[in-house]
Amino acid sequence: MTTVWVPADAAAVSVGADEVADALVAAGATVRRNGSRGMLWAEPLVEVETDGGRIGYANVTPEGAAGVLDGHGDCLGVVDDHEWLAGQRRVSFARVGVIDPQDVEGFEAQGGWAGLRRALTMSPADVVEEVTASGLRGRGGAGFPAGVKWKTVLGAEADTKYVACNFDEGDSGTFADRMVVEGDPFTLIEGMVIAAYAVGASEGYVYVRSEYPHAITALRRAIETAYTHGFLGRDILGSGHHVDIHVRVGAGAYICGEESSMLESLEGRRGEVRAKPPIPALKGLFGQPTAVNNVLTLCAVPMILADGGRAYADLGVGRSRGTQVFQLAGNVARGGIVELPMGVTLGELVEGYGGGTRTGRPVRAVQVGGPLGAYVPPDRFDVQMGYEELAEIEAMLGHGGVVVFDDTVDMARMARFAFEFCAVESCGKCTPCRIGAVRGKETLDHVIAGRDVERNLELVDDLCNTMTKGSLCAMGGLTPMPVQSAIRHWPEDFDRSHQEQEGVPS
Ligand SMILES: Cc1cc2nc3c(=O)[nH]c(=O)nc-3n(C[C@H](O)[C@H](O)[C@H](O)COP(=O)(O)O)c2cc1C
Ligand code: SF4
Repeated sequence: MTTVWVPADAAAVSVGADEVADALVAAGATVRRNGSRGMLWAEPLVEVETDGGRIGYANVTPEGAAGVLDGHGDCLGVVDDHEWLAGQRRVSFARVGVIDPQDVEGFEAQGGWAGLRRALTMSPADVVEEVTASGLRGRGGAGFPAGVKWKTVLGAEADTKYVACNFDEGDSGTFADRMVVEGDPFTLIEGMVIAAYAVGASEGYVYVRSEYPHAITALRRAIETAYTHGFLGRDILGSGHHVDIHVRVGAGAYICGEESSMLESLEGRRGEVRAKPPIPALKGLFGQPTAVNNVLTLCAVPMILADGGRAYADLGVGRSRGTQVFQLAGNVARGGIVELPMGVTLGELVEGYGGGTRTGRPVRAVQVGGPLGAYVPPDRFDVQMGYEELAEIEAMLGHGGVVVFDDTVDMARMARFAFEFCAVESCGKCTPCRIGAVRGKETLDHVIAGRDVERNLELVDDLCNTMTKGSLCAMGGLTPMPVQSAIRHWPEDFDRSHQEQEGVPS
């Protein structure tokens, strides 16, 4: 009987993967479910096992499903050899789409638990040192060195410490956290257990948004399996070390991704930013030292421990070491996951892997790093994707989201949207953000309506400076980035004197 792989990833399911799986069962195939390879443009991507490797068929429909068993359909050849995948350097995503996410033996056969096994032979301080040597920086957006954070938690005097995994993934156009958890949840568990061991914690919390039901189910099942196989709970692998992991589901507010709001929410309160200091590494969850890390940060850790920090540090550019999991989204021909060493150019991602726009029109703008990131024009596509490299062009890497817009985009409206987003999502604790976002939106409404444009743009600039310098957290502090980048690169869109004024309040 032919064995076929059909992704159970939410993105694949949303375009009919479950129905395709049913049709393949009805046609007599043995169906196994994997995560998505990240080639979202090809979903549902069915892979047929052969002696020569897994042969992929793109965009399979329930009607066409039986045909792939006879070689009919949009054949991509051996999936591992496909140029879109073969050129990538998959570290955190090495097993995603390859294994059955719930198969703990399959995980181990593909290198799983090797990092944890090695970590448990080392002292916590040496594990921290290995992570420091890797150059790994926080993938949640701020890019803070993971080893430095862990060293602070390890050195803090306290009976109880925590690891808190930030799986809020609120940035528009980002989905890597979700896909790695749906496609390879044991990697996150392994990364969290290593982190807990390194900092001296015996409890970990995963904070995940409720919009991710597939990921929540996958993670909960994998946690149960990890307990029954001795990778969680008491005396992990005979080390005497004890780690429990709890999953907590948030209601899905953008600000709950900010680490101190996330801690508030985890403690059962409304998600509101805490003033710093104290930093969470010293006084975090329930007032105890806490290592807060993003899913992707934690998912890089097992490989770093398995292969050594040096192997990870050998990849990358400047002070941005290792790989980044880029997420191509928006108006892009081939959207999905591209994991590559830091330093790849934005052009290689958008024009190369992404294949330009889905509409076939010229690319006009790309927003890098989520809703608080800058809009980058095509004449800056030579920028290398690294923290400092992007900062040099007044942009940021954020969580690695890359959202593409074609030449029909109105950048004044995108700038307005940044203020509107901030007005809706602000926690309201500080004035520059709470009031500034509302006033910014109103002022851009005047600009879009062509009223006193020059003076109102000066006001917007002034407001942006106040928000940048005076906000308590990066929500208000970074909202000016998309606004000012739009004004800087596309000034013509803000001169509304000759344009139609549709849908703008007068
Ligand atoms: C408004 C706002 C939203 C954020 N959302 C997320 C998020 O969804 N996921 C995340 O990991 N970090 C998010 N962050 C960054 C976190 O505050 C924090 O830097 C991160 O979780 C630390 O983990 P890391 O060092 O591994 O990146 C957000 C920050 C801000 C200001
Ligand atoms: S900047 Fe905005 S989100 Fe951050 S603390 Fe101030 S009001 Fe809250």
